[in-house]
Amino acid sequence: MRKVTLFKGDGIGPEICEAVKKVIAALSLDLEFEEFDVGENEYLRHGAFIPQAAFDSIERNKIILKAPITTPIGKGFRSLNVQLREKYDLYANIRPARSLPNIQTPFENIDMVIFRENTEDLYVGKEEKIDEDTIHATKIITRKCSTRIIRAAFEYAKAHDRKKVSCVHKANILKMSDGLFLSIFNEISKEYPEIEADSYIVDNACMQMVMHPEKFDVMVMPNLYGDILSDLASGLIGGLGFLPSANLGEEIAMFEAVHGSAPDIAHKYIANPTALLLSTCIMLEHIEEYEAAEKIRRAIDAVLKEGKVRTPDCGGTSTTQEYTDAILAHL
Ligand code: NAI
Repeated sequence: MRKVTLFKGDGIGPEICEAVKKVIAALSLDLEFEEFDVGENEYLRHGAFIPQAAFDSIERNKIILKAPITTPIGKGFRSLNVQLREKYDLYANIRPARSLPNIQTPFENIDMVIFRENTEDLYVGKEEKIDEDTIHATKIITRKCSTRIIRAAFEYAKAHDRKKVSCVHKANILKMSDGLFLSIFNEISKEYPEIEADSYIVDNACMQMVMHPEKFDVMVMPNLYGDILSDLASGLIGGLGFLPSANLGEEIAMFEAVHGSAPDIAHKYIANPTALLLSTCIMLEHIEEYEAAEKIRRAIDAVLKEGKVRTPDCGGTSTTQEYTDAILAHL
């Protein structure tokens, strides 16, 4: 029996996890979840954001499906997401944005995959108070981490028959740090002559993604730009409720929706579980359950195509449960 560690998270986390558990149960796979409460609520109840038993489970199972966790702002508190990515060196954050049937946005046929470097850049959390009115934040870019994410993007493009990899940077201003990232991109791209390679300064990349999204196929970038551009990409396909992700390291893999714990709609049972369900599909592919992943994707597409049952974030009035039931009916 394959075991997967499941973090139920905060806010809408437990609500969207229920949807995933029902869908997985309906497929009768040889797969079992080891569930854990993690995050702010767990801290308030038991004094630890992630209980030791949950870490032990990750290290046994090597696979985590994770619902969003609330990060209190500005309380000297380090994001648990960042901590998990660092602890298990989950360096490749992969975020595929694909247009879904019948989801109204001004954009059609979006199909881009963002590779976000996940372990360094400004996210190393090194901030220094110089004086009362001056704070320095350190941005770290290394050859090692840049090389592995850029290579991962090209290898993905090769394996998935993608035509182009675009590098996003700000090397015109950050000449040394982003300059290093871009120069490594240019070096590695020469090893893949069959794949087109180009690069965009990050501000231009944002404009081009909105004006000419068809220009983008696979994209690779340092951590901060990846964080921002993936929310932008989610806007192209109908919002955060639809964007899944994988966080891959050499040994451990974590799958999660790109969105946060959505405190504004928590406990209203109207959250869109699609992003976590699509993250589950990527997880299933990771463990070679390709057919199950395809079934879930087809069921989601069918429900959206019919357009009768949809959650409020994409113009409907259905609850998470009603949407999940519609998916179950199509499985
Ligand atoms: P958010 O992604 O939680 O919400 C932004 C907006 O999108 C809200 O209006 C929300 O209602 C909507 N939204 C998000 N997911 C949705 C879904 N599945 N269905 C329907 N609507 C959805 O971002 P926000 O408000 O900036 O962050 C809230 C908390 O989540 C913060 O504590 C933040 O640190 C944390 N967070 C955690 C992440 C993670 O665990 N991976 C990622 C991003 C944020």
